[in-house]
Amino acid sequence: MYADRTNWNLTANLLSEALERHRAAGKPLLDLTVSNPTECGFVYDDKGILGALSDPSALKYEPAPRGLVSARRAVCEYYANRDASVEVDDMILTTSTSEAYSYVFRLLCNPGAEVLVPAPSYPLFDFLADIQDVKLVRYPLIYDHGWQTDFHALELAITSRTRAVIVVNPNNPTGHFMKQMEMEKLNALWAARGLALIADEVFLDFSLEKKRPLSFAGNRGALTFAMSGLSKICGLPQMKAAWLVVSGPEELKREALARLEVIADTYLSMNAPVQLAVPSLLALRRSFQEQLMARVRRNLAELDRQLAQQRVCSRLDVEGGWYAVLRVPATRSDEELALSLLNDHGVYVHPGHFFDFPSDGILVVSLISHEEVFSEGLSRLLMNFH
Ligand SMILES: Cc1ncc(COP(=O)(O)O)c(C=O)c1O
Repeated sequence: MYADRTNWNLTANLLSEALERHRAAGKPLLDLTVSNPTECGFVYDDKGILGALSDPSALKYEPAPRGLVSARRAVCEYYANRDASVEVDDMILTTSTSEAYSYVFRLLCNPGAEVLVPAPSYPLFDFLADIQDVKLVRYPLIYDHGWQTDFHALELAITSRTRAVIVVNPNNPTGHFMKQMEMEKLNALWAARGLALIADEVFLDFSLEKKRPLSFAGNRGALTFAMSGLSKICGLPQMKAAWLVVSGPEELKREALARLEVIADTYLSMNAPVQLAVPSLLALRRSFQEQLMARVRRNLAELDRQLAQQRVCSRLDVEGGWYAVLRVPATRSDEELALSLLNDHGVYVHPGHFFDFPSDGILVVSLISHEEVFSEGLSRLLMNFH
């Protein structure tokens, strides 16, 4: 009855089952995995947000495959503020970066084509790829006084079926940014082989570094698809507004955009009220980002304070993003550890394998957790290793 591509194992894993039981029993939970910014106690400009959604122009339907020009212009301004030059016509609006990924996969990949993805990274890739009949091939990131791309392994992972490489800048959950030299290396490698670059930059604004991180938007060295959206930039995942910026050698770029326009025109998935609101919503991002970064900094300071009181666990360097990666003794699998933290201590954390870490001894915690929850959850977690 069903297509092979949907042949997923849909049984809940042990940790999700335990979480459901824990919640159903009404037990208190210290959730250190939160990623939904609308549930973290940040103060939003409710009036500004709701006001932005009530533009009377929304009463008229004006289908625009690439998205309304006013919204795209606001996105160009966003990039101009980051010193990245993006043209209004080099962009397609989408409802999410997930949708942007599916457009790009559809554009580039025949069934069975390969796309390289970093490991560790974000767990949604598997499903996005399955649905589009794309085969993911992992390339390892290495941690040695900070995270780096293993270019040798990346090159070895390229086959005749490879169409693109995904870079997540900064990566989730490692929180490291691509450096100028890495971008140049990637451009040289990719342009020489006629492959495309897909840059997921949803966390680009959330940097802990003094130097402003570089964006792939407007990258000219290779055919590049840079994506981001309001979900993280403004902490508004419910608005379903994102974008795809295309750049690179002129002819390739023009053809990619023309083909993407047909894909977008087939769905016309963006709704009018949200598109009309994009300029105002983007203008509200600074207050959200300031609150979020203040939370991240305080939680990180608390993490370092607690880690300094013991010698068994440590954390990896973090340059940005919303997560911290903890190194803990690998005396059992990360899943068993996460289960025990949940069942015995009421602390919910993500095991490293959830993000494709290759070995045990890794837990991932969200730095946007409420501060009291973060502090108490962490102290129970660390006590576990005394
Ligand atoms: C790296 C990365 N890309 C994309 C997304 C999803 O963004 P969107 O809500 O725009 O689909 C997430 C969400 O957590 C993410 O971590």
